[in-house]
Amino acid sequence: MEIKLIEQDFNKIDTEVLIIGVPEHPENTPGWDDFVASYNSHLPEWLKSGDVKTTYKQVVKMPTFNDSGFKRVLFIGLGAKNKLTEERLRTAFSTIGKEISIMKASSIAIWPTPFTNEKITNEDVAFLAGEGIGLGMYKFASYKTDSNDRDISLETVTFLSDSNQDELKVAFEVGSLHADAVNEARTLVNMPPNMLTATEMASYARRLAETYDFEIEVLGKKEMEEQGMGAILAVNKGSVEEPQLIVLKYAATDKWEDIVGLVGKGITYDTGGYSLKPRDGMVGMKGDMGGAAAVLGAMQIIGETRPEKNVIAVIASTDNMVSGDAFKPDDVITSLSGKTIEVLNTDAEGRLVLADAVTYAKQSGADYLIDVATLTGGVIVALGMDKTGALTNDEAFFEEFMHAATETGEFVWRLPLTESDKKRLRKSEVADLNNSPGRDGHMIFGGGFVGEFVGDTPWIHLDIAGTSDASSEHDLGPKGATGVMVRTLATVIERMASTDINSK
Ligand code: BES
Ligand code: ZN
Ligand code: ZN
Repeated sequence: MEIKLIEQDFNKIDTEVLIIGVPEHPENTPGWDDFVASYNSHLPEWLKSGDVKTTYKQVVKMPTFNDSGFKRVLFIGLGAKNKLTEERLRTAFSTIGKEISIMKASSIAIWPTPFTNEKITNEDVAFLAGEGIGLGMYKFASYKTDSNDRDISLETVTFLSDSNQDELKVAFEVGSLHADAVNEARTLVNMPPNMLTATEMASYARRLAETYDFEIEVLGKKEMEEQGMGAILAVNKGSVEEPQLIVLKYAATDKWEDIVGLVGKGITYDTGGYSLKPRDGMVGMKGDMGGAAAVLGAMQIIGETRPEKNVIAVIASTDNMVSGDAFKPDDVITSLSGKTIEVLNTDAEGRLVLADAVTYAKQSGADYLIDVATLTGGVIVALGMDKTGALTNDEAFFEEFMHAATETGEFVWRLPLTESDKKRLRKSEVADLNNSPGRDGHMIFGGGFVGEFVGDTPWIHLDIAGTSDASSEHDLGPKGATGVMVRTLATVIERMASTDINSK
């Protein structure tokens, strides 16, 4: 994509679509009169009549009638200027992205000034435009054989700005590489489970490692057996697909120390195993690797922006199937940590694979841990479909994480993890832990189980069962995978590269 900067002169643009933000009282925007003069003197009337709207997110598309260098103008209402926030702008730009897709435009020009206020600079606008437009334009290529829907991508983006601000170009680029990573994660989640097997996910990670010069290690069944990863092996037992523990290392410093571990649940299909899911509850379980996708997406951003922080990504991938060999309720298994687990429910498989993955991350030197997983239906009952649930054992680390989540606009809400919850996890007559203490408040038991393997390492658990998939079109994209947590994970790493966390 080419990103151009030109001075704020509407006669010098050469683009298919000029994007004009319309706040309340647009005439107060410096340069508005020049725009009206070069576009159409009727514009003030159209604003009065409501044909061009100032209402937030309302889009109006108009052709140009003179021989300007822009063929069409896309007006987007912004509402009251003083109410504009980064979050609202990201959404507005995503709306623009959706429109650009429909218009099949490959060149656009953006005049940043109307989008700014005392808090939001031209540079912020450029970043949010890159991010929002990229997210809004996303489409999953279907497997329909009769479709000739052609994919479009943006080839040229022109910014109109008086100062020669090269920062605008960089900001837009960073925004769009954030969106690209989210979109890659979305595609992984949207892929059918017969195509995205654990082995395929490992191949994807190998390509990522090659592009960004990460160290990569992939453990298959044999290596897992050698190491004693009894938990992920148990989940894989009923499958004909090889399990994969995918490990990526991004080394920012000469010494491999002060390392953040990102751990993802990569269940490529969850039938529930012998604790079989009802048929309606099974559909959609191709998305049970949303945590793995979030980690891979975050690694893509990290590979691009190269923050000063060492990161290890560990993804535990397998499907959860039934067969004569499959693990069963009542089985007792031994995890990599040495802790034994009584299996009460084979559908509580995510926590099992995460137990081994978290242990492996710790053994590889992780000083901080974040695990991300489509772990429980319980989080949906507790928080709905639009909030990620969290648990933590470290206030300072969580606070830092929440700053990142606020920056990206991804809503996260923490639930408690008490001593009595832990007691219930440890209740078993035959093993150290049980994998399913009950249905009441079971989001806490899912994440809390993973917490039994982190020891004193500062840790955050993110349950994205509700947020990883959208049942209908939403602010930042279409129905289907959302790519949630990709941006927040990358942002927390970027923040940690520049701040010292005062962990307990
Ligand atoms: N993959 C599911 C959780 C899930 C549910 C993800 C809905 C996305 C949407 C997980 O493995 C699971 O089955 N959890 C069980 C745990 C229970 C058996 C303790 C659940 O939440 O019902
Ligand atoms: Zn399950
Ligand atoms: Zn699952």
